[in-house]
Amino acid sequence: MTIDLAALPHDFLWGTATAAYQIEGAAAEDGRSPSIWDTFSHTSGKVAGGDTGDVACDHYHRWREDIDLMRRLGTNAYRMSVAWPRVVPGGDGPVNDKGLDFYDELIDALLAAGITPSVTLYHWDLPQILQDRGGWPSRDTAEHFAAYASVVAARLGDRVKHWTTLNEPLCSAWIGHLEGKMAPGLTDLTAAVRASYHLLLGHGLATRAIRAAAPGAQVGIVTNLSTIHPATDRPEDVEAARRMDGHTNRWWLDPIHGRGFPEDMREVYGVELPERAGDLETIAAPLDWLGLNYYMPATVADDPDGPAPRVREIARPGVPRTGMGWEIDASGIETLLLRLTHEYGARRLYVTENGSAYPDVVRPDGTVDDPERQKYLIDHLAACASAARKGAPLAGYFAWSLLDNFEWAYGYEKRFGLVHVDYRTQKRTIKGTGHRYADVIRAHAESGGRRAA
Ligand code: IFM
Repeated sequence: MTIDLAALPHDFLWGTATAAYQIEGAAAEDGRSPSIWDTFSHTSGKVAGGDTGDVACDHYHRWREDIDLMRRLGTNAYRMSVAWPRVVPGGDGPVNDKGLDFYDELIDALLAAGITPSVTLYHWDLPQILQDRGGWPSRDTAEHFAAYASVVAARLGDRVKHWTTLNEPLCSAWIGHLEGKMAPGLTDLTAAVRASYHLLLGHGLATRAIRAAAPGAQVGIVTNLSTIHPATDRPEDVEAARRMDGHTNRWWLDPIHGRGFPEDMREVYGVELPERAGDLETIAAPLDWLGLNYYMPATVADDPDGPAPRVREIARPGVPRTGMGWEIDASGIETLLLRLTHEYGARRLYVTENGSAYPDVVRPDGTVDDPERQKYLIDHLAACASAARKGAPLAGYFAWSLLDNFEWAYGYEKRFGLVHVDYRTQKRTIKGTGHRYADVIRAHAESGGRRAA
């Protein structure tokens, strides 16, 4: 598989991505308060192996070494998140300067290394104290989020230009409040729908707040989307696929593009939205760019008695899968990039996450060979370049993840990193895929990339 590197702009962002709770550790240091993920991971039975993010990759203390790894990979961008409970431990109110100092120093060091920081304000670590006061199902949380966004943008906005409000609101709302498999671990449709609404409202409010605090900021949101296929051509399954597309894709994309919440899905959920005049306009604040996180497609059948959206996922036999059991289909990333371009009129797109987990081992010679992950990376990059060739305004790609890290409910069992982490010693080892990524980045630079006509 070859990548049409000449289809990618010369100033393409080649990045890696991480998230605060997954790598930082230092859970109780320098004034950080507990988040919903501290609570969830410390609740017996919620996370594989009883793992927590207490130490994680100890990035809070080892960030210099991690920036050095980025330089060795040749990346020119880094997508990271700020931990709300580090910066505003009370959820709202007083700012913890020590928390901000950490990010301040990190940003300076990234810039000094020639790496563009792309900062996400919410990657799932809601301060527990706000959960105790109602969490995302409550409107106040959206307002507190905007206030926190303003604090961070005011401090870092002179140097950070790329801002993300939310990472994957789908996971916060559906997996956290409906399926119960992520923090805060609820299984309540009303709470989930209300959370989805307030997450998007928080996105809109924060977009405004970031722009006010940091003029010139480029603001976007990161959505995890899937291509959805019906299990058969029975009309019931075709309709189920339409519902799954609504649940996974349109529920998020339509309102942020000014189309409101999809009517068909409002009916499927049957939950009244906590709407107030002006909210839809706030949610639809014009974006500078849109982020796509893509991992896998989904195949679904009708499940009339199941919970909303009444679909059952079908595992297609004989299809290659990653170590997560996720089906591999690189064409899905191209389909989605083109859908965002043509159906939603995207003006600038980033692949903000894409990657695969496999059970890596460090060989006696100290190397980590991961041919399946390398193939996944190259095939997906080729599909991205193909989308760009066909007109998708793709401006960057961020591999998930820089490091093996705390993979939420899977704990440390699943490894997505371009860099292997030995959690006992915290030793980092660049995997074969990391070296391969560096080769691609170098080849793109040598090709000169695409220049504006
Ligand atoms: O690890 C996560 C990340 O936090 C959000 N997107 C998906 C990744 C892999 O599951």
